[in-house]
Amino acid sequence: MIIGHRGVAALAPENTLSGINAAADLGIKWVELDVQLTRDNVPVLFHDESVNRCTNGIGRLDLFTLAQLRELDAGAWFNARFEGEKVPTLEETLTLCAQRGISVNLEIKCHSKTAPGLLVEKVAKVIKSTGFPSENLLLSSFSLPAIEHCLAMLPDCRVGLITEQTAPAFLDDIEPLNIFSVHCDQRHLSPELADAILSRGYQLNIWTLNEVRKAQYFHGLGVTHIITDDPAPFSE
Ligand code: G3P
Ligand code: MG
Repeated sequence: MIIGHRGVAALAPENTLSGINAAADLGIKWVELDVQLTRDNVPVLFHDESVNRCTNGIGRLDLFTLAQLRELDAGAWFNARFEGEKVPTLEETLTLCAQRGISVNLEIKCHSKTAPGLLVEKVAKVIKSTGFPSENLLLSSFSLPAIEHCLAMLPDCRVGLITEQTAPAFLDDIEPLNIFSVHCDQRHLSPELADAILSRGYQLNIWTLNEVRKAQYFHGLGVTHIITDDPAPFSE
């Protein structure tokens, strides 16, 4: 099973509505998207701590109000074809995904200044108000506090831990939590680590794999979902 990374990061500006439409046009069923809060606490799709790389603005994302953020161009940096693209709210995102039949692996993106409880609270509110089906949602985070807030505030949603760990010791720390999946950096996933994750009953997913020739190998290790920037070659 293929999940488009940040939408379809190779084909459209990451974490945008164009990326979601590109995924749907390709027939992809799942996208991974990153969510953060604006200064006025609106959940929006964005990966980096600053707007510098993916917009024509400068500065920390969490210091922009939604209105200020909407003045920025979030597409032209990627390709002139996407000029005019805006940073989308989570509400717009889930509405579009529901319309286009796309399921969402929503990464609760925590940077140094993020308050995980507030972020998850605002995300939970949008998930509930849009009525986005929990079976079409997989929440994930590198942040254990964010994961604990997800489990508490969205008990119907599956929650995954994203990790760069290479040794299985971290699995002891998460054992008391009701985590559904572990999302490993494909560069660090050994057969031993895969076995340890699977033997504890977690679904095993990897990021970010762009070499299609390795897909069979990871499938053999028990990987269920592959997060990739460019899903097209995987379906050839
Ligand atoms: O969700 C997996 C992957 O997206 C984590 O890394 O930095 O691309 O958000 P990053
Ligand atoms: Mg991510």
